[in-house]
Amino acid sequence: MDQATDVAPIPIAVTVNGQLRRATVEPRLLLAHFLRDTLGLTGTHIGCNTAQCGVCTVLLDGRPVKSCNVLAVQADGASVVTVEGLARDGELNPVQEAFWAKHGLQCGFCTPGAQMLAAGILAEDPHPTEAAVREALDGLYCRCTGYENIVRAVRYAAELMSGAAEAKEGA
Ligand code: FES
Ligand code: FES
Repeated sequence: MDQATDVAPIPIAVTVNGQLRRATVEPRLLLAHFLRDTLGLTGTHIGCNTAQCGVCTVLLDGRPVKSCNVLAVQADGASVVTVEGLARDGELNPVQEAFWAKHGLQCGFCTPGAQMLAAGILAEDPHPTEAAVREALDGLYCRCTGYENIVRAVRYAAELMSGAAEAKEGA
């Protein structure tokens, strides 16, 4: 047996989408693989696996992280939200609704990462400027949309969250 990789698995407990999940994992297991392969949450996509494309973004204790750049053991005791955790009781959350309304996706491959980034941006700043949204999306590679509609979607999600969109429609 290769001594270098002979490291004992480690028990972890992570709250994922509000549910406490326990597992015993290899110390080298990436959070992205823990979510997809151990928990079956395949909504988190993997593109580059080298912390560049951002499609694997999830919220870790409320902050967006590239889950291919975090070890599962580093999430022990933390709270993780994946794209599967956005909708509640079958209702789209405002970020998802805004991506749908503003056509913020084409092939959809980057969409889980884009939506989790959006959720993170809006948690930190409920009314981001266009420049702030563009800056926050800097780590996301989308090969289809040209970003325009993603930016519109994030800003529309902010409106939905503040109730402004409904107020406008009702006026
Ligand atoms: S798969 Fe994680 S950043 Fe590309
Ligand atoms: S929608 Fe296709 S990569 Fe972004």
